[in-house]
Amino acid sequence: MGAVAVVGGQYGDEGKGKFVHYLVHEENIKIIGRGNGGCNAGHNVYDPERGVALALHLMPSGIFGKDTVNIVGDGTVINPHNFVEEMDAVEACGVELSPNNLKLSSRAHVTLQTHRNIDGATDKVGSTAQGIGPTYRDKAVRSGLRLEVFSRPDWQQVVGALFSAHNDELALLNRKDLRVDIDEELKKLEKSVARIIPHICDTLTYLSNELANGSSLMLEGAQATMLDINHGTYPFVTSSSATAGGIAMGLGLPPTAVTRVIGVFKLPMTRVGKGPFTTLLTDVEADLHDKLAGIKGEKGSEFGATTGRARSIGWMDLVMAKYAQRVNGFTDIGLTKLDMLSGINSLKVATSYMLDGIEIFDMPADTSSIERCTAVYAELAGWEEDISGVSNFSDLPINAQKYVQFIEDYLMVPVTMIGTGANNADLIKR
Ligand code: IMO
Ligand code: MG
Repeated sequence: MGAVAVVGGQYGDEGKGKFVHYLVHEENIKIIGRGNGGCNAGHNVYDPERGVALALHLMPSGIFGKDTVNIVGDGTVINPHNFVEEMDAVEACGVELSPNNLKLSSRAHVTLQTHRNIDGATDKVGSTAQGIGPTYRDKAVRSGLRLEVFSRPDWQQVVGALFSAHNDELALLNRKDLRVDIDEELKKLEKSVARIIPHICDTLTYLSNELANGSSLMLEGAQATMLDINHGTYPFVTSSSATAGGIAMGLGLPPTAVTRVIGVFKLPMTRVGKGPFTTLLTDVEADLHDKLAGIKGEKGSEFGATTGRARSIGWMDLVMAKYAQRVNGFTDIGLTKLDMLSGINSLKVATSYMLDGIEIFDMPADTSSIERCTAVYAELAGWEEDISGVSNFSDLPINAQKYVQFIEDYLMVPVTMIGTGANNADLIKR
């Protein structure tokens, strides 16, 4: 049995966690691993059995699964303080964490407070200000630190040297105000490090052995295809590989290990942060925007789980979805928030773009070209009925069924799961 990957097909926040939750709880996936990103990700986890509603960031969403093993893999970046906060939050919900159910890769990179400060001082793309870019930068230029550093007797010296280099950098950026007190930071780190140390191990070897033993394994994607450092709308991207191949690589798994790739798409789609958004709702669609955005703080509303920022909202973009299909090789598609489309007369779906007066059907390679594209829409008839909580495809209004089939036919990939509400159980399985 191979591994299944759950990957974002758009600009993030597609509701990947819904399907992760389903696979962990209903299909009894044993191991769930994050292979990319850090606490820039944000997924709201609802566990009605425990009465839990938590915003998790780096913690894998399998943490509420019975006997699930959660891995934070080689390709991730870990801020020890934020991670300890997540551990506390999860434990407060009654989950007992141990080195058996939570394993952090010794190869993962460390995000320090100064990475966050540098992010704040230098960001140009509307980052989550969590220090993700600067951490991956240090990794790429080989001045970064991996979690393994904390098992060295002289770790305070080594980490102190990086703090000091970052302080110098902040001074050069004319942001002396953002420099940190190194002794104070080291003292704070001591506490957080003591908490995570028992969980740090060689997750690559663990995963490899488990895979060989036939254990079921899920790769939990963070961010999304269009935020991928290689394939997204560069430079308006995150700093890690967020596609199926990238996440496998980030867990140290060979590409052949992944046999099922679920691409997650939200209807309507959203983007937070800067960068092109071809199918963005227009000013005349302001009422629709407000209906789809919901109310900040309420379940399923379109405000960032990490930053609280309002998300931009747009129509489903099949040109982009086809591109995501090329990069990831989806075997299944999962759609979320179909219920939000109820009561909209005519549903637009982008099926091509106009670029400099020419109709194109493929995503341009350069972001500057994408920025010049306008969407060409197919308009599908909507439906009035409230479909919240519907769990059988055949119970959907015929126009809702047609809408899903339109997406399926365009992408030539089966839509196997459809979200119909904010609760875990609001799900159609096909
Ligand atoms: P999940 O896992 C949506 C966006 C940021 C910014 C860009 C770079 O919840 O889908 P970064 O802090 O990563 O350097 O910011 O990427 N971004 C996300 N947008 N969902 C996410 O994660 C995101 N993680 C990063 O808004 O535009
Ligand atoms: Mg999110």
